[in-house]
Amino acid sequence: MDFIKETGRRRTFAIISHPDAGKTTITEKILYQGGVIREAGEVKGKSGTKAATSDWMTMEQERGVSITSSVMQFDFRGLRVNLLDTPGHKDFGEDTYRTLIAADCAAMLIDSAKGVENQTRKLYEVCKLKKMPIFTFANKMDREGKEALEIVDDVESTLGIKCYPVTWPIGMGDLFAGLYHRLENKVYHYTKGKVEPEIFDVTGWQDEKIKAICREDFIYDKFLEEMELLEIAIDPFSKEEFLQGKVSPMSFGSAKFNWGVDIFLEIFADFAPPPLPRLNRAGELIEPENKKFSGFVFKIQANMDRKHRDRVAFVRVCSGQFERGMKVLHVRLKRDIRLSYATQFMAQDRETVEEAFPGDIVGVTDTGNFQIGDTITSGQKFMYPDMPRFSPEVFAKLSIKDPLKRKQMQKAVLQLGEEGTVQIFVDPFVGIQDPVIGVVGELQFDVLLYRLNDEYGLDVKLDRQPFGVARWAHKKDGSEIGKSINGGTLYRDIAENPVVLLNREWDLRWIEKENPDLEFKSTAGL
Ligand code: G4P
Repeated sequence: MDFIKETGRRRTFAIISHPDAGKTTITEKILYQGGVIREAGEVKGKSGTKAATSDWMTMEQERGVSITSSVMQFDFRGLRVNLLDTPGHKDFGEDTYRTLIAADCAAMLIDSAKGVENQTRKLYEVCKLKKMPIFTFANKMDREGKEALEIVDDVESTLGIKCYPVTWPIGMGDLFAGLYHRLENKVYHYTKGKVEPEIFDVTGWQDEKIKAICREDFIYDKFLEEMELLEIAIDPFSKEEFLQGKVSPMSFGSAKFNWGVDIFLEIFADFAPPPLPRLNRAGELIEPENKKFSGFVFKIQANMDRKHRDRVAFVRVCSGQFERGMKVLHVRLKRDIRLSYATQFMAQDRETVEEAFPGDIVGVTDTGNFQIGDTITSGQKFMYPDMPRFSPEVFAKLSIKDPLKRKQMQKAVLQLGEEGTVQIFVDPFVGIQDPVIGVVGELQFDVLLYRLNDEYGLDVKLDRQPFGVARWAHKKDGSEIGKSINGGTLYRDIAENPVVLLNREWDLRWIEKENPDLEFKSTAGL
């Protein structure tokens, strides 16, 4: 296969949204358009006994929350698209952040009745930090919601990004008539119950033909009014600005009725960037076309398949070609390992991959060598940046009744820490046998206890700790920090970074006063 051609046709993105905005529904429709599933409905919603294709764990299915992220691959218009699924629940925000780092662009899904919700804002900040190109899809146009202009304003003011509406809705809710495609001068007229839209050409938004599809005159008048405003207020589309994450191509529709999802995919195919060059820790840009293989682990998942009881490290290929069985340098461990078994994913179905290209995600079977953020290369000694870690808000220690099982518990917790399920903080004077566990949201503790019980057969109890924030400590002059600091305990996270744990943010003032040579950050690796 032609390496340059294959690399150039890769597109890798993640959908971010608030829970219930319709991510599962739109994913299903996208996979349908991509020919991955034969029939819309194979990937089901969350209620009742239906299981979303990307949900692996029983608990997710029982709880109806998508906890783990998976990767789905499909072809569209000659492109090979990798869609990285992200958990919507806020307690699993970290998993989402890491997935975004593995993607080259993101699609933000907004419930048009609710506008930009809090969680989307936080995720968006990560995109902004990364200057990530972002698409916006305003969903649920089949329902009465906010006015389209209000949604634009909401995105622009809360997220600080300009919108470029590629389509514009004609009506909403029961009076939704269709979408006007501003770039193609086409109208997509949708009718509930009809699978295919009626598509017709128009001379522009003022074309009288549009009036004919509006069931009420006021809908048409409003459309004209809004278009007039848009034409004045919205600058022409700049691909440059889009690639810098400054302007977002926006489209409207209804995932449920499959309205506008095909248009969204077309816009995606037109604008989404191929794999982008990535900076390594030394600040050098690694081009995807560089023939030497490199990639990083952004996710580790254990026991995805009960029959195998294995652990899979998800690697984002950044440069060069991946081949099954290849020998790579594990840069952190400074030794070669052979990637003998690798898989690509279409939700539950695993397929063995023989080769993969920049932009692709491969799952490699891991026997305990990998941590999130690890770099593998075909011999080059550089590392990609560490994965960001965010301050947990809830802390606990673990205890187990059966003292004979304590060692087993320590091992299990360490494994789950490496997977990023929880964060682990070790007091160097106490040691790894009794770490503090930190999570962003309570649901993560539920997952921890469930998995310790279900996968490791451990009956563990949580002992809450009074902490409420973690702050990563750095010497202002960049030198190494010693083992202790004044007025507090210096813990280490799983990557050995020094951290202080505090009850309240306010307590930081005291620690800062006691240690004027140090500065404290609320994230690591960003
Ligand atoms: P999520 O993954 O982002 O959490 O959302 P999901 O797709 O599960 O959708 C959440 C709810 O919103 C579902 O309803 C789904 O049917 C509905 N939904 C998604 N897209 C649209 C849309 O475009 N229009 C309308 N009207 N509803 C939409 P549910 O009642 O929770 O489940 P179900 O019984 O409908 O499957």
